[in-house]
Amino acid sequence: MTKRVAILISGGGSNMLALAHSMTGDHPARPCLVLANSADAGGLAKAEAMGIATAVVDHRPFAGDRPAFEAALQQALVAHSPDILCLAGFMRVLTEGFIAQWQGRMLNIHPSLLPKYRGLHTHARALEAGETEHGCTVHEVTPELDDGPILGQARLRIMPDDTPDTLAARVLPLEHTLYPAVLRRFTDGDRTPIYLS
Ligand code: GAR
Repeated sequence: MTKRVAILISGGGSNMLALAHSMTGDHPARPCLVLANSADAGGLAKAEAMGIATAVVDHRPFAGDRPAFEAALQQALVAHSPDILCLAGFMRVLTEGFIAQWQGRMLNIHPSLLPKYRGLHTHARALEAGETEHGCTVHEVTPELDDGPILGQARLRIMPDDTPDTLAARVLPLEHTLYPAVLRRFTDGDRTPIYLS
């Protein structure tokens, strides 16, 4: 049976697009929803242009009440019956209660070679630490931030003249290759990590 994938975004949605474009032909999944936590998320229009249903659950009216935000999020999601959630640049921290509802069915992409550099400003932190390698990770979402079983990593060598911006620009295309590859394998029920170098 074809699996239904909801993709959660906060920004431009380039990873969302890579995932959505990959789900064609004999791919065992199809996108059923692109959901953003802000109506300003640039990815929404791109999803609409592809004919994918979209939804917005703005976190701001729920300031200070994360469970209420997540209840609204859950309601918007279940209306589209997803089997799998893909966080793709979704910049809200989720609580244990929300994650429990999707555990084993929720993936995230993070712009570092986890377990290094959980959280924000990953490119700047890798440079400051004098790393020679950097990259991105797709992992299952568990209650600990940017933790959970690793399903894939892609890496590159840091160049002497790299800045946080050049690194981000070089990591992003790796994300666009890695995330669809992991989603396809995951949809087939295979959690063997994919390592791209
Ligand atoms: C991506 O680089 C993704 O790895 C990162 O946000 C960017 C979203 O870009 N995610 C995180 O930092 C999550 N902690 P996109 O909207 O173009 O896909």
